[in-house]
Amino acid sequence: MLSKQYKEMLSQKSVIRDMFYFATERIKTHGAENVFDYSIGNPSVPVPEAYNKKIEELLENPDFTSIHGYSPNLGILSVREKIAAYLKKTYDVPYEAEHIFMTSGAASAICHAIRCVVEAGEEVVVFAPYFPEYRPYIELAGGIMRVVEPDTKAFQIHFDKLEEVLNEKTAAVIVNSPSNPSGVVFSDATLKKLAAFLMEKQKQYGHEIFIISDEPYREIVFDGKTVPYVSKYYDNTLSCYSFSKSLSVPGDRIGYLAANPSCAGAELIASMCGQISRGLGHNCPTAFIQQAIGDLIGTTADLSVYETNMNLLYDAFTSLGCECIRPDGTFYLFPKAPEPDARAFCDKAKYANLIFVPGDSFGCAGYFRVAFCKDTKTVERSIPVLRNFMRETYGI
Ligand SMILES: Cc1ncc(COP(=O)(O)O)c(C=O)c1O
Repeated sequence: MLSKQYKEMLSQKSVIRDMFYFATERIKTHGAENVFDYSIGNPSVPVPEAYNKKIEELLENPDFTSIHGYSPNLGILSVREKIAAYLKKTYDVPYEAEHIFMTSGAASAICHAIRCVVEAGEEVVVFAPYFPEYRPYIELAGGIMRVVEPDTKAFQIHFDKLEEVLNEKTAAVIVNSPSNPSGVVFSDATLKKLAAFLMEKQKQYGHEIFIISDEPYREIVFDGKTVPYVSKYYDNTLSCYSFSKSLSVPGDRIGYLAANPSCAGAELIASMCGQISRGLGHNCPTAFIQQAIGDLIGTTADLSVYETNMNLLYDAFTSLGCECIRPDGTFYLFPKAPEPDARAFCDKAKYANLIFVPGDSFGCAGYFRVAFCKDTKTVERSIPVLRNFMRETYGI
């Protein structure tokens, strides 16, 4: 018999993918140069040359088992050691290799983290606007997703709403800073307040509440900002990192989970992830990709184009009167739609060849996401199209 659960999911497909599909089809009839696909967060900057060189070097090694053989269950030890040393030096948190588990990107790190600390029927809190894939990550692990309504002024945490949602069944809270879709970085004050709140709740309920910190955009920040490292604020933190955006290699599927050395069960988490992997059929990221990033930890692609694009689009939307938080980082903008229904707005915009994603799928109706991981010339060409569309449709 076909699985009822997965069959039902076929009717809840990703709106981001739907919009991306629309753009792909539209390109066939209108030409790639006339369709501005701001739907999907696929990095657009070139991969650092050092990364490609490293892979070439590795593939020349005649000892093919060290390149193409199985990697150890938790990841290649020397790579885990390098990651731990980098994190220790950068964030002053005393990680060792035993706290690091290699994953296929942040998606896999989050799925492992959830299974590590959430029992079936327990709750995981997310802050709107949130990355829509959190729902399948949580629900397919047997957890229940609880949403904290957004703070649409600053896109920090709405603590009064958090107080309403968090309860004795809460096992984990997912934090994503810088955030997809708002681009906002959670401030030092926000993280201090969150840590104090969760510590208090842990005491009250007599069990751990973990933070699962989703950090694929850690290096993409603007205006010289820095990103406070969540694990520094709260011991029971599992950091989920990805090289997808920093090295521009999302198809290579590489990242890691780092368990704070002072978290509950710190010495067990990576080994537990190894067991979770067996059930997921995950069994480690590709061995030579692990080795390639091992020598490039802390290196990034040239990410500066994202700041250039952000400034162009932020100025364009705000000059059209759209309310919009200025992103601290990422490659997303999250403006308020010029009509209450952002789905209706995105439906109209897509026939003007401007492909956006309504905020409803991020738990924040009335807003829409613009993924500006494009080359700057494309962004520049899209601005007159946007101005025309807003004038003709909304008289702006
Ligand atoms: C907030 C967030 N988390 C997790 C992911 C998953 O990224 P990956 O699995 O490629 O590392 C993404 C991808 O876009 C994301 O935006």
